Parts: sequence; C-alpha cells; structure tokens
Amino acid sequence: MNRQYRLDDGRQTLVLAAHRDRLPEVVYWGASLPEGEDLGILHAAQMLDVTGGMLDEHPDLSICPEASRTFPGQPGLIVRDNDGTPLLPKFCFASEEHTETGLTLCYEDAANALTLCAHFETDRHSGMITCWSELTATRPVHLHWLAAPVLPAPQLSDEMIDFSGRWCGEFQLNRVPWTPGMRYRENRTGRTGHEHFPGLLIPCRGATNTQGEVFGFHYGWSGGHRMIAEELPDGRRQVQWGHAARMETQAAERFASAPLYVTYSDRGLNGCAVAFQRHLRDRIVTWPKSSTARPVHYNCWEAVYFDHKLPVLKEIAERASALGAERFVLDDGWFGQRDDDTSSLSDWEVDPRKYPDGLGPLIDHVHGLGMSFGIWFEPEMINPESNIHKAHPHWALGGEDQVLGRHQKALDMANPEVRDFLYDRISKILRDHEIDYIKWDHNRVLPAPDASQTRGSYALLDRLRGDFPKVEIESCASGGGRIDFGILKRTQRVWLSDSNDGVERLRMQHNAALFLPAAITGSHVGPRHCHTSGRTLDIRFRAWVAAQRHMGFEMDPRELSDEEARVLTEVTAWWKHHRAWMLKADILRLDTADPSVTAEQQLCQTKNKFVVFAGTTDTSRQISPRPLRLTGLAPDAMYSVELVNRDSRPFWSRGPQPLKDGPVTLSGRYLMAHGLTLPWNFPHTMWVLEGDRL
Ligand code: DGJ
Repeated sequence: MNRQYRLDDGRQTLVLAAHRDRLPEVVYWGASLPEGEDLGILHAAQMLDVTGGMLDEHPDLSICPEASRTFPGQPGLIVRDNDGTPLLPKFCFASEEHTETGLTLCYEDAANALTLCAHFETDRHSGMITCWSELTATRPVHLHWLAAPVLPAPQLSDEMIDFSGRWCGEFQLNRVPWTPGMRYRENRTGRTGHEHFPGLLIPCRGATNTQGEVFGFHYGWSGGHRMIAEELPDGRRQVQWGHAARMETQAAERFASAPLYVTYSDRGLNGCAVAFQRHLRDRIVTWPKSSTARPVHYNCWEAVYFDHKLPVLKEIAERASALGAERFVLDDGWFGQRDDDTSSLSDWEVDPRKYPDGLGPLIDHVHGLGMSFGIWFEPEMINPESNIHKAHPHWALGGEDQVLGRHQKALDMANPEVRDFLYDRISKILRDHEIDYIKWDHNRVLPAPDASQTRGSYALLDRLRGDFPKVEIESCASGGGRIDFGILKRTQRVWLSDSNDGVERLRMQHNAALFLPAAITGSHVGPRHCHTSGRTLDIRFRAWVAAQRHMGFEMDPRELSDEEARVLTEVTAWWKHHRAWMLKADILRLDTADPSVTAEQQLCQTKNKFVVFAGTTDTSRQISPRPLRLTGLAPDAMYSVELVNRDSRPFWSRGPQPLKDGPVTLSGRYLMAHGLTLPWNFPHTMWVLEGDRL
C-alpha cells in the first residue's frame, strides 16, 4: 500500500508520498492544490522514467535519503554504533499522527534498533511550515549528521541565494547557479556567525523582489549549521539542513535537528520575507511587555567605550532623553577592572573605581529622566586576565595553546557549575537594580563546534527568562554574529551589525528584511564620522536609516550641533508617531530600476497605510531619477502620497515636481505599474514617503 499525506495552510500545499513502507518523499510543494486533487494519481504522475545507464528505478529522494537504498547523493543521516561501526539504516513505516495543523511520521529500522520521526507543523497566519527530525536508538549511538526533513528544490530555477558576511558587513547575498553537484555551506564556528546566516532562497526563473515563485528556508539554531543544496546526476535537486556535522560529541539515545522553517511564495522574494518576518515576530519571539511601545534606545558604546565616568554618563543620558530616547543601555566597561578588552570578562561585579556607590546613582538618574535602564553582559566568555579564570581555569573551553579571540576564551556552557555561577552573578545584578534589558554579547567563535554548548547557553537564557520574565534581551555577537530563530525564541532584539554607517546599514537592513521584521532589528544613529567605516554622513540620512527599524542612538550626543539635534529630534518624533503600526508592518523590498537606489515599502497590516524609504547609496548613472514602483496595493484604490522630508531637498533639485509641494493622489495601479517619480537628490540621502488609502 502506498501512503500519501497533504499539508495546507491556505497559500501552499506540501504533499508527502511513500511507496509501501518506505520513507516518504515530498512529491509536491508549491501553490495550493485544489481540494479534490487525487494524491494517489499525483504520486504516480511524478514518477520519473528510466533509460539506459541507470538503475531500474530512481532511488527515493525521501525526507531522509538513505545510503542503503543506492541514493546517488548525500544521505540524510550518518550514524555509528557505540563501538564505531557505521550503521546503514533502512527505515520502514511505524506510525502516523495527524493533528489539525501538524503531521508526525515515524519509521523504524529493526536491524539497527533505530527510530526516525519527522514532524511538520503549518501556520495559516504566517504561511510558515516548521519541520524537524528526531532519531532515537535503544542504546547510545554516535551521530555524525542528521538532516531536518529533506525537501526538493524546484527545477525551473537557475540559481539559489544564500548569505555570507563579516564583522560590519552582515547579510551579503550570494547568487549561486545550480550545477550538477552540490553547494555545501558549513559553519563550524560554534555560533550562528556573521559568515553563514542559515538562510536560503530559491527563486524560480524570472522571480524578483515583488513577483514570481520563490522557496525559502531558515534553520533555527545558534550553534553552527550545515546546508547542502545538491543537484543529483538524474537532475533532481535536494536541500538538506542540520547542525554542523559531528557537533554531537557524545554518544546518546536521542538526537533531534533544530526546527527548519520553510515557505513557498508566489509573490517574489517578498512573499518569503513576509512569512519569515511574521512568523518571527508573532510566533517565535515572546514579548515581555507586548502592550508597551518599543522604546527608542540610547546605547553609550560608541560615545564612551570603556571610559565610564558618572557625570559624563549622566549628561549623556540627559541629552539622549531630550532627543527622544526612552531606554538607556550601559554597554561594556562597568564591571571588574574592564578598562579595555583585555580583562575582566566573568568578573560580573560592579567596578568600584568607576561606580563607588554602585550602579544605583546612574540608574536612578536615568529613571528620573523617564527612561528605562539596560545593561551589557557577555556571559559565555572569560578573559584569562580575570579573577574567575584564576579561581576556575578549568571552566574555560579549549587548551592553553589555543588562539584567543579578543583576548578571551569561551566558557564551558555544558558544565552546570558554570551555568549556576553565571545565573547567580547575572540574577544578582537584576535583583539588586531595576533593570529591564540585557544586551547579551558573544564576541568570539568557539574553539570547536559542540552542540552541548549551544544547549547550555539556551538553558541559561531560559532559566533567567523564567525568573525575570519582564527583562528583554538583545542578541549581539560582535554585531550580527548570532541571529537565528533559535536564539530569538529567547531574545527580542538583534544587534544587526557593529556598523552604524548609514550606507552599510541600508544594504544590510534591506537584505536582513528577507527574514527579520522591524520590531526586532535594532538600528542606531551613530557618530557623524562613522567609527567603523571612516565615512562622514549627514544626520538626516543616518536618522532615517535608523528610523526604518527599531530606532536608537549611539553617538555621543554632546557632538551634535543644534541643527543635528533638531533633525534627530524631529525624525525620532516621527518614528514614535508611526511605530505602533510600522513595527507590525510587512517590509516589502522594492524592485528599483536604478541600482544606486535601495528602497523598501512598509505596508500596514490593514493595507491602508504605507511608508516608503528610498535611499541612495551611490551617484546614479543617469541624471534623472527613474520611477520607483510600489507593491502590494489595491490597484483600484486611490492613495494620498506625501514626501515627508521634502524640505531637505538640495539646491540642485530645481524643477517642478508635485511631490515637492504636498500630497499627491494616485491610484494603486499607477503606483505599482508606473511608479513614483521622486525629486532629484544627492547620494547618501533618503526620501521618505507616507501613503494613505483614501
Ligand atoms: C561588541 C558589540 O557588538 C558592541 O556593540 C559592543 O557591545 C562591544 N562588543 C562591547 O565590547
């Protein structure tokens, strides 16, 4: 008997089908199928013919391709018995369980006493399918590789888009052509990493930001992953995701992949982006104060670095508050003897030289200004130059001859003693003070990948969150080195990058929006002369770039001229006025005809309101701006469109242009089919438009 299963969420259908007792294959994934589709016929219809020079039947591209069934590509499971003997499982049907939104299928390999289960969950709100694999054995076995349920990739696709990056250069897109063989990405750094964000988008031919079919994947794990996108010799394509190979360092009776999040879009990259944004914001992140507005941040890092002086910090807090900040975050430098980055990590006690009366006076001052208070920790790290390292050298991971990273070692988070120590130190600070925010940093890679490290970090976060449910946590790792849905189950904000350069940020934010909603993406107005790029950028540009996401400031406000302070206050007030709907909006990347323009449209959930940010990263080749096509509007509705910052147009914008004078009423059709013609502007500027449906 063949078996077929079908999952629907109103915008996509996934069909699994198995020959007799064998593991099922995903035989269809794409736009919703009609209810009456006969899955038996569909299963038979997609059977591939055979010809010369091949086996008499194509081995299944199943949810866990099996080496034991002559599968011609990478297998989905590599496991050894306790004594090291390689096992070649051959799974047979054991059970199935359906719920309204989910499906669990289990298979047994009697000869090796292994059980493999695959879980699938649909979500109508986000359009996200979550799936994961689980392997159990009757005795401890060694795991080399376990893929989350394996999915096929589309055939009418010429390329895939995956992500790389670096410090101050996160979320770079790689477009890689499909060819026979595989694209293999493996992150062995022990954290999510700047280098390999665990995401993949597979556009079908002709897809753009706003149109066409795209398949999206994200692996929700913070310990380093492996991705395989392989075209088999017969032309079929498979996509595998799992923890980086050999991350499970101990034999065990149970292993599980992290959740793999997948989605299909027939609205271009934006369809995937919106599904990921919504799923992350509305299903993954838990908000301690869901009814409170996201506060404007002030973070003192680029203002003072390690040089903490109470009167200076107080003055900075006053100025930040006057500009509109609502939360003050005290960054690195408040503990131990931390005068630079060479010492004190793990000595989580207030530095009495810098704060002779403790943190109380600063926190009281901040609260007196009406701001809440946040504080920086880097819990998983230790400097050899620290009291704790002297007392507990064995708490650090790695040998004495290891290469340090930022003069520090990683702590052994799998050790419960270490976790208890960290819990005690962090909880003491949280109990002794009114603190509602932690910036949780992680500034070096691990000496070796080890899944128990990640589980240890998750356990510490979960315990702290359980006992301090009102405290929000920001995930930072030298900027965007730990951004994934696994860490975001435990945190509410990410520090996208250490680059506060508006030009860099504009690009990063644009690409990160393929997965991240505005509400969780921190973005700060940095110093006039950017500390990480050396560029000098106008306050208007810096402020509007920060206003695209969860807004904050990070410069020393004492450097601002009166004019800069005025602009920043105005943009911040604008952001506060709109944040209630903007932070719940869908971010839609616009297709721009001019490569020097990076533009997005934030569309309100009611679809009645939008804001467009059109940033110019370079000088255009042509002299006149090309029209900018909007998206997602009702074609027959009329919209009033206003250029919010028309007063900041340069002298050289000297022609007649109605947007310069006030709102313009245009149809959704015109805005989407022809696009908005914007006034001329300098490079490194941003036009901001508000639209209201009439
Ligand atoms: C790296 C972070 O990304 C910065 O924002 C800052 O918090 C420093 N660490 C502090 O050491």
